[in-house]
Amino acid sequence: MNVRFVTPQGEIVTTDVEPGSRLLEAGQAVGMPLEGTCEGQMACSTCHVIVFPEWFEKLAPASADEEDMLDLAAGVARTSRLSCQIELSGELDGLTVKVPGVARDMQFG
Ligand code: FES
Repeated sequence: MNVRFVTPQGEIVTTDVEPGSRLLEAGQAVGMPLEGTCEGQMACSTCHVIVFPEWFEKLAPASADEEDMLDLAAGVARTSRLSCQIELSGELDGLTVKVPGVARDMQFG
């Protein structure tokens, strides 16, 4: 299966992923600027991505803790998610997300 990342510059990067891996790992493997500082503990929001609307509804809903972290992320949109919380099951083949610009990341602000 594969997933697609749209970079802050608008470039599309497609990558093969193993079902069961996390979107954060897939993005980091192809050099996306997703820091994932807390390694999936929902304590940082540096793994924030914006999911394309047609895919957003296919994802398992965000937990209350994830929603709370997203409130703190820079540049959030209605379809924002934490990529460390997205497990890539087979039905997400083709999932497409936008990577927000690093310049808007809080630690650069
Ligand atoms: Fe920190 Fe996802 S890696 S919230």
